[in-house]
Amino acid sequence: MAELIDGKKISTLIQEEIRVEVSAIKNNGGKIPHLAAVLVGNDGASETYVGAKVKACENIGFKSTLVRLAESTTEQELLMIVEGLNKDADIDGYIVQLPLPKHINDQKIIEAIDPKKDVDGFHPQSVGRMALNLPTYLPATPFGIVQLLERYKIETAGKHCVVIGRSHIVGSPMSILMARNAYPGNCTVTLCHSRTPNLKEHTLKADILIVALGKPEFVTADMVKDGVVVVDVGITRMTSDKTKSGFKLFGDVKFDEVAAKASFITPVPGGVGPMTIASLLMNTLKASKKEVY
Ligand code: GUN
Repeated sequence: MAELIDGKKISTLIQEEIRVEVSAIKNNGGKIPHLAAVLVGNDGASETYVGAKVKACENIGFKSTLVRLAESTTEQELLMIVEGLNKDADIDGYIVQLPLPKHINDQKIIEAIDPKKDVDGFHPQSVGRMALNLPTYLPATPFGIVQLLERYKIETAGKHCVVIGRSHIVGSPMSILMARNAYPGNCTVTLCHSRTPNLKEHTLKADILIVALGKPEFVTADMVKDGVVVVDVGITRMTSDKTKSGFKLFGDVKFDEVAAKASFITPVPGGVGPMTIASLLMNTLKASKKEVY
């Protein structure tokens, strides 16, 4: 039976470490880290995510600014707001919550963010610096996974890492990070996606399996070998008659049967998900300490 990789516990621990550091910075008269978040429109999920980010800032002693904009905000208006945030010396880092309304080009906005303040790690310069193993801001989910592997001292050098999913925010960066000459890293990496034939042939070779395709319970026990380390990034909400809320969250991995074969596994919920906030706070602290640039 696998050991659980407890993302909730590690996220809480990291936030506590940051809280202690911020308290010391305050006592020494240093600058209090300041995160801003831009929320355009009234997307329910985005409101929840941004609310959680702002609350986390409060809990650990960061300053936070929430910029709320109407659904009807134009691309030009949003670019002006971004320019203002780039110039605001008190703001160390900021995020523009995605998705944006359809009339705004996400990529154009991302590219307008000053890379020095890009605590989401979505700017092409941040992505390029990641690929070159230069100091940068890693995006929240990959950074969270890296932290989990580190804190559970999972050996990665010389291992075969299989990543399922090639999204720009998870699969693609994870494949780059696991192949880097660094820890975690030094893996031989196979990146699988929707056009990969005979997926099981690949997953059966994985020492480390990172699953981010967004299909509930897709990975089954017959697809993995004994002792595999499994990182499940999937999170799909489905109706269920077994919970009080009438909903249940499912990962991309059939947990019970895969856990029986694995050496380590992240649960859903409570695995990768809770780490994303810790990542954003770590990036903001780095920005305020000017550790990247
Ligand atoms: N939407 C979903 N996840 C994220 C994230 O990590 N950052 C931003 N800006 N938007 C998101």
